Amino acid sequence: MELWQGRFKKELDSKTNSFNSSISFDYRLFEQDITGSLAHTKMLAKQGIISEEDFSKIENALKEILEDIKIGKLKINENAEDIHTFIEEELTKKIGTAGKKLHTARSRNDQVALDIRMYLKEETIEIQKLVKQLQKVMLEMAEKHLDTVMPGYTHLQRAQPITFAHYLMAYLEMLSRDIERLSENYNRINVMPLGSCALAGTTHNIDREYTAKLLGFDSVTLNSLDGVSDRDFLIELSFNISMIMMHLSRLSEEIILYSSWEFKFIELDDSFSTGSSIMPQKKNPDIAELVRGKTGRTYGDLFTLLTMMKGLPLAYNKDMQEDKEAIFDSIDTVKICLNTLIPMLSTMKVLKNNMKKSAEKGFINATDCADYLTKKGVPFREAYKITGELVSYSIDNDKTLETLDISEYKQFCDKFDNDIYDEINLTTCVNKRNVIGGPAPEQVKKHMEKYK
Ligand code: ARG
Repeated sequence: MELWQGRFKKELDSKTNSFNSSISFDYRLFEQDITGSLAHTKMLAKQGIISEEDFSKIENALKEILEDIKIGKLKINENAEDIHTFIEEELTKKIGTAGKKLHTARSRNDQVALDIRMYLKEETIEIQKLVKQLQKVMLEMAEKHLDTVMPGYTHLQRAQPITFAHYLMAYLEMLSRDIERLSENYNRINVMPLGSCALAGTTHNIDREYTAKLLGFDSVTLNSLDGVSDRDFLIELSFNISMIMMHLSRLSEEIILYSSWEFKFIELDDSFSTGSSIMPQKKNPDIAELVRGKTGRTYGDLFTLLTMMKGLPLAYNKDMQEDKEAIFDSIDTVKICLNTLIPMLSTMKVLKNNMKKSAEKGFINATDCADYLTKKGVPFREAYKITGELVSYSIDNDKTLETLDISEYKQFCDKFDNDIYDEINLTTCVNKRNVIGGPAPEQVKKHMEKYK
């Protein structure tokens, strides 16, 4: 039986009913829905809108319903229109007339806005916790690799020397911006919409601030049209999740590359790798690939939400029911990705020597060689050209800057002396990049302190 009795002479066509229904996904909100109703009804009683007697009947019955759903005693009826309808019906089945008073001074429009905000508040904190856990694992790894030299890349070409710790700390920065964004997002979710009712508030003497306080909201929405039709906070979360996923996807891409034979900088633990059904030698980074792949879903969810909202006139429209599957999918996706990446990273082996060997091969100390000449008075552009010629000569003669003789150096510029070898030593090159944000262990250590 639908809620909208009176006006209608027939029941809703059964296929249309299932098309219209959201219970297959909004059942997730049962706890928020009941908690919201408990606060609403307490407020109604305080204001004398319902009697204390009705309030205690409603309160007890709602608590029982909550418990019964939790323990599986009460099964959610898949034919109900939505979770709000289902719970109200159960309540009325239990206590009759008193149950019919719960929905005084409320509409499903402000009710669903409340439920989703309550749900997203919890989930935002959960996601933040997981991002922090990932940061922790990366920070612990960084501590062990302050001196682990590796090539830094631009265009995926070996560029300049960095350390593995410096590399990891780049992700800590990205992730802390993500955490910050979630906190700001949380503040905008944390506004209580109940009392907006269908769209135009109510003539009943309700106390919205009291309900907000009961439910742990910081403030109440200030326009009833906006209160029921605002989904900005939810779209913002979807964007923030997409951004986190974009970061995780970049990390995953590097895990995939770095665990290939071409790099071999890292080796994933067997428990986080998969094999091939035909090629016995294979050890595949499926987990990282899936994280990279699932990033696309969260972008899709974001566009679902933005597009769903773009043409909606004020205030509530049923289109908005579509918000739930998209945001639930984004939340589930980012959580499962973080939950899988965290143990994968903490069990991953770092192959320091391979990083070092690779760093030695790509002339990544060429800038340091040019800087050496600059410090001896050669203008940078000239020093750059001389070093370029040295690199070209080395490639032709199968040498590196480290293995050229001093006499060979001098053929290109007489400013070269024996101290060039120390200047282009990779450890020196890293240690001397001692500027704020640079890879020198001293700087990275300071940066790490900030996170501890
Ligand atoms: N299931 C609906 C939703 O998720 C609840 C609000 C329904 N309101 C209405 N007037 N039909 O959006």
